[in-house]
Amino acid sequence: MRPKLRTRCCASLQVPAVDPVHFDPVIDETLTMIPGPTPVHPRILEALSQPTVSHVAPAFVEQFRSALRDFQALCKTRSGQPFIVAGAGTLAMEIALVNAVAPGERILVISHGYFGDRFGELAAAFGIQCDLLRAEWGHAVSPAEVTQRLDAGSYAAVTITHVDTSTGTAAPVEAYCDLLRGRKELVILDGVCATAGMDERFDEWGIDVLLTGPQKAIGAPPGVALCVFSERALERRRVRSTVPAYYADVLRWLPVMQDPGRYYSTPCVNEIVALAAALRMVHEEGLPARFARHAQIARAFRAGLEAAGLKLFTAPDCRADTLSVVMLPANVVDAGFRKEMAARGVVIAGGLGPIAGKAFRLGHMGNIGAGEVAAALTALEAALRASGIPVEKGVAVAAAAALLPEPYPV
Ligand SMILES: Cc1ncc(COP(=O)(O)O)c(C=O)c1O
Repeated sequence: MRPKLRTRCCASLQVPAVDPVHFDPVIDETLTMIPGPTPVHPRILEALSQPTVSHVAPAFVEQFRSALRDFQALCKTRSGQPFIVAGAGTLAMEIALVNAVAPGERILVISHGYFGDRFGELAAAFGIQCDLLRAEWGHAVSPAEVTQRLDAGSYAAVTITHVDTSTGTAAPVEAYCDLLRGRKELVILDGVCATAGMDERFDEWGIDVLLTGPQKAIGAPPGVALCVFSERALERRRVRSTVPAYYADVLRWLPVMQDPGRYYSTPCVNEIVALAAALRMVHEEGLPARFARHAQIARAFRAGLEAAGLKLFTAPDCRADTLSVVMLPANVVDAGFRKEMAARGVVIAGGLGPIAGKAFRLGHMGNIGAGEVAAALTALEAALRASGIPVEKGVAVAAAAALLPEPYPV
């Protein structure tokens, strides 16, 4: 029998269990371990299901304010201007580019995979010149390579993908930012697969635009685009009379973000209330504890995966804490293996680009704890056996459990 989400979700978080009647049985018994969307805690689902109210109702405006404030604190900025608008991570990337960079200007894109490359595609769509600095998949661009590019010329902005969800590569963001300090290039950081799971220090590192999404390490449902703009980035927008955008123009949104009771375009009321709840949980846990939990769960998963005889795709010096990209054993067919996992109630993602069919991606971020690690690895052991790979029962779970705290009673 598949374990219930109620007993698996957020085992390591000090949050109350919720009445299981709130769940559709199909969703209830499926553990979503893809790199986003991630499992949404019942407290957040409860917030999402509150009645849809007017976008100017005082209670909603207060939730919106709280989400803005907590998002700003999550990004560790005092003066950065947060933006929360209905959309997705890709819209947040677009907002960053169209407002910070003018058509015809040149940017440097540091790419560690599919999502890094997406900045190049966005640049092309808006007539922005782009130099792509790509790492071999599974490796990271060294700070020395960035220095070489910066020595050779200047750019309007440099884009960094904190964690590329296609390769599991975590960029050395702080080291890149050190190189960019005092230069005219704006630093645009894509935190979609990192924010709330790995540290991001907007003010201290000198980031100009941090963009992210709610559906990964923040653990909220998808539906909003999140950005923070530095004063310097906002100024780049202000000096231009127009940008090739209407909905994505930050100057049109600014009055709403400064006073969430104002209207520009209808906010996604329910998703913002859910986001506010998710961000409250982030801060109740505390950022140091949350980052430590993500690091611990990543270590535990990897110990389990390796004990099951699997190899990680991503080089050891740049592995993200939020997901693992794992090579499939020879002769194991990707679709069949993922079907075996799904039959055991655990959904994982396939590989992208050059590793499609050869690897799978396991998300381990947001509202998950020891219970999800055990459930996912139990399913994985069985799915490997069903795929013809001999794995001793319990070997992966035991290796992971050795690195995790004892679950507390729920
Ligand atoms: C690192 C990264 N950036 C951007 C995106 C795009 O986000 P969305 O799918 O919400 O548009 C993703 C999506 O997975 C991502 O992982």
